[in-house]
Amino acid sequence: MTTSVSAQPRPADVLVDVQGVKVHFPIKRGVIFDKTIGYVYAVDGVDLQIRRGETYGLVGESGCGKSTLGRAILNLEPPTDGKVVFDGVDIASLKGEALRRKRREIQMVFQDPMSSLDPRQSVESLLLEGMKAHGLTSDSAAAGKRLRDLLKAVGLPATSLSKYPHEFSGGQRQRIGIARALSVDPALIVADEPVSALDVSVQAQVINLLEDLQEEFGLTYLVVAHDLAVVRHISDRVGVMYLGSIVEEAAADDLYAVPLHPYTRALMSAVPVPDPVVEDGRERILLTGDLPSPANPPSGCRFHTRCPWRQPARCDTERPQLRVVDIESVPRSHRVACHYAEDIASGALTAHRVEAEVVDPTLADTGTDGGSLIGPATLTELG
Ligand SMILES: Nc1ncnc2c1ncn2[C@@H]1O[C@H](COP(=O)(O)OP(=O)(O)OP(=O)(O)O)[C@@H](O)[C@H]1O
Ligand code: SF4
Ligand SMILES: [Mg+2]
Repeated sequence: MTTSVSAQPRPADVLVDVQGVKVHFPIKRGVIFDKTIGYVYAVDGVDLQIRRGETYGLVGESGCGKSTLGRAILNLEPPTDGKVVFDGVDIASLKGEALRRKRREIQMVFQDPMSSLDPRQSVESLLLEGMKAHGLTSDSAAAGKRLRDLLKAVGLPATSLSKYPHEFSGGQRQRIGIARALSVDPALIVADEPVSALDVSVQAQVINLLEDLQEEFGLTYLVVAHDLAVVRHISDRVGVMYLGSIVEEAAADDLYAVPLHPYTRALMSAVPVPDPVVEDGRERILLTGDLPSPANPPSGCRFHTRCPWRQPARCDTERPQLRVVDIESVPRSHRVACHYAEDIASGALTAHRVEAEVVDPTLADTGTDGGSLIGPATLTELG
């Protein structure tokens, strides 16, 4: 983790510049002719910058578009709109060999190391694969040393090279996954839920390993997770995603100390605090009801169907931009996509009970796995 977070980085300090990125998946129906009957708006207008050497944490409920955004950064999911500039180069402008070379600099670590590692390949073969593809194995003595160094860096013995993924525990397999990402000397690692499949006791070890490696190799991380504690621990800055866009972004400590967006406040209020006195007295916002479907997102502010501070007209019709807020003591690096962030923070607006929405069933049926799209949303503000 780096220490201080300025509002506007110098262009040279930005490694990844995501500009207005949208990823819309067509929903097809029909036996003979594939007819597009709608879109899943998985990522719907995201701007974010990841600075060299920092860890950017992306957090949000299942289905809000975190993985799709991660994949769009690697151009594995080409954006429907907007662009991703990596180290000064628009990724979409690259083709063939140039794209392959650039991809080497961005590697992924996945949630489930068992399914991301080919069970028929030995660790040696798994680690050599990427190195061979990028011409990093021409000198076999140097390649052998590199393999041993990689294993040492991730805390595995050199004897692991001849073994197969099933011979390792979950935590060790994730270490192999990390070694594999490191093998091609990347600048950015996109880690998608890197510890959520691991036992709690092992999670901390893998998180600490990621932090050590960041320092040793000067890496930049985008860490995607739904666990607020993991994100807080590892991130310099955090972006909170809701239905395809970022609703709040701040330095990790600022976000956790003063969450400003109603959605972030609801997420934070669900995390128990160890001190029983603080736990009893603090605000609790129960966020019940499903996330509306990204195939049929609410108009205006996408959170309005669940927001206890929703105001008539404007919240339902005007989509709020991610903006610097005018609140004393809140730094300019803290941005919020809420029309009323200032009034909510000052207490000028008070929370109210959210009534369940009546949903038009014809709009709800788009054929996605979710079935009913905008489910009844109830959000209750408790004492
Ligand atoms: N290839 C695809 N085709 C159609 N829809 C997709 C595709 N990939 C993802 N989606 C949809 O896009 C939305 C966002 O998915 P995504 O996997 O990015 O969410 P997520 O935030 O990573 O969720 P989770 O926390 O469960 O991993 C979901 O509604 C998902 O069903
Ligand atoms: S813009 Fe309105 S609906 Fe959206 S979070 Fe703010 S108060 Fe709630
Ligand atoms: Mg995901």
